[in-house]
Amino acid sequence: MMPHPKTIEEMMAATGPIEKNLSLSLLQITEAAAVASAYQVGKGDRKYADHVAVEAMRRVLNHIDMKGTIKIGEGERDEAPMLYIGEEVGTGNGPEVEIAVDPLEGTNLAADNVNGSVAVMSMAEKGGIFYGPDIYFDKIVVGPKVVLYEKKTGEKISLDAPVIQNLEIVSKALDKKIEDLSVVILGRDRHKQTIQSLRAAGARVQVIPDGDLLPGVMTCFEDSGIDMVMGAGGSGEAVLIASALKCLGGKITGRLVLPSVANEKSDDEILKEFAEKLPRLQKMGISEHEIDMIRETDDLVPGKDVIFAATAVTDGPFMKGTKLLGGGDACMTSIITGSSGVVRIIESVYVKDKENKSFSV
Ligand code: FBP
Repeated sequence: MMPHPKTIEEMMAATGPIEKNLSLSLLQITEAAAVASAYQVGKGDRKYADHVAVEAMRRVLNHIDMKGTIKIGEGERDEAPMLYIGEEVGTGNGPEVEIAVDPLEGTNLAADNVNGSVAVMSMAEKGGIFYGPDIYFDKIVVGPKVVLYEKKTGEKISLDAPVIQNLEIVSKALDKKIEDLSVVILGRDRHKQTIQSLRAAGARVQVIPDGDLLPGVMTCFEDSGIDMVMGAGGSGEAVLIASALKCLGGKITGRLVLPSVANEKSDDEILKEFAEKLPRLQKMGISEHEIDMIRETDDLVPGKDVIFAATAVTDGPFMKGTKLLGGGDACMTSIITGSSGVVRIIESVYVKDKENKSFSV
């Protein structure tokens, strides 16, 4: 499962100060968000489930000794009261870090108690995380074996290549027939053509209702059964995927795209969205002609000392959803990784009154 086999000594030497000092805090933050939203799982109110996750994440974040800036958050300052892009978080004492958050990824999944919702966060040193605008990122995500194959052969996965060509590269890299490859994609009208091409080539397509962040991360785990993720989804989600891939050795490649363009809306709607979003993009340092440039893992997350954590809210691959044990107690599963390449899958149990509680994991 480990993408970069190294000795423990080498991994310890490769552990930067953020990974060394803030990993446990990151885990506690995603755990807090997951527990808060777990109380809202299945209650049908996606906005409230998200709201409590945001509140919990921010509350815990502000106890951590660091000078944090939100680079990927809940939106612009004027539309998101908490965890907005540019918000400063932490106690203000400690290292300067940049942060990407998705307190509840898959809000519909959580509201309907469907597999795949997670609380997610990543961190890196100053300058380490892309200022992700609130638009889509059209992408292809693959795991570390494909990256190695690209390096060896010079063949490259590309958003501009035909679907069959990308499948052939993944097939050779993983030594699997195209018929045995599993590709995850969001079930949206904008993906109809890609889904058709994938099926025509013989691939096994998993069309999911929401939540393409976790499948992107799972391309790095051979036994997840996910070989590739394709399609346009949130650009914040893409940056969080890139954070995990930086640690796990996979690759994301794609380009920013306005939702109105991806969803083939009318010219008027496209112009309206463009006029509304361009000033924000420019404020983030993205000029008009740079919007649709190809961006890869290192462009989305240039950081060298990166950490990523995700705690399952509902069940998902490798991770059991957060369970409420009564009386405020809860248990949950998380994945946490960092630039050293160490991956930890952690089960935590929070028990309020340890004298009077027996539990099993
Ligand atoms: P939320 O957690 O904000 O509900 O997002 C879920 C999600 O499915 C993401 O995983 C995905 O990247 C994005 O929404 C796709 O957006 P859209 O629903 O507009 O196609």
